[in-house]
Amino acid sequence: MTAKVVGNDDERLRAAEGALDEVRDGMKLGLGSGRTAEHFVKALGARVRDGLSIVGVPTSENTARLAGSVGIPLTTLDEQPALDLTVDGADEIDRSFRLIKGGGGALLREKIVAAASAKMVVIVDAGKLVDTLGAFPLPIEVLPFGLGATRIAIESAATRLGLTGDLALRQRDGRTFVTDGGHHIIDASFGRIPDPEALATALSAIPGVMEHGLFLNMASVAIVGRDDGVEKLS
Ligand code: 5RP
Repeated sequence: MTAKVVGNDDERLRAAEGALDEVRDGMKLGLGSGRTAEHFVKALGARVRDGLSIVGVPTSENTARLAGSVGIPLTTLDEQPALDLTVDGADEIDRSFRLIKGGGGALLREKIVAAASAKMVVIVDAGKLVDTLGAFPLPIEVLPFGLGATRIAIESAATRLGLTGDLALRQRDGRTFVTDGGHHIIDASFGRIPDPEALATALSAIPGVMEHGLFLNMASVAIVGRDDGVEKLS
């Protein structure tokens, strides 16, 4: 068990370092969240200290703190509404570059930043590459107001698509998890999601759903860290 965790972190580090090849001087970058993205931010910080000139928009308060601490100049989407590239992790990715994100709870800002970027590169360890999305519970960011009604609406929408499963309100340290935007997260264990597009459309139509973790038509490159190197999918 321990060996597996260490191996995965090596893979995360390789994927993150592989993404440095995508970065050019002068770029405006979206900086993702999570362990793999943190490896990338640290590696990018080292390049900045060596003279690389970029600015970054962080996708979470955690990433903002880390990026600041390693010397990456930060900006906002108000100052720089169009970014060149976002580099971010994922909880699952299929061969059509469809993603589940939000395991770290930053999905809303991550999606806003990715949508403002000309290109999104996903960095993952090999275990994240799947044939069909859904083994990882789908994070759905919801407004605390009306939570009971929103939960029922999610259940009904999923049932209409033939999906059932537990909807768990995410907890951390014995309390309901609160995102950087002040929302909660429902982790939906639907199992296999054969039609992510239909589910994404149905979830987006529910008023209390602020955003869902299906990132479709956003990523065009994936760098997969493996035991013996990296695989670039594009
Ligand atoms: C955070 C995310 C992360 O990118 C995702 O959870 C992957 O994280 P990690 O690299 O730690 O496995 O979507 O909201």
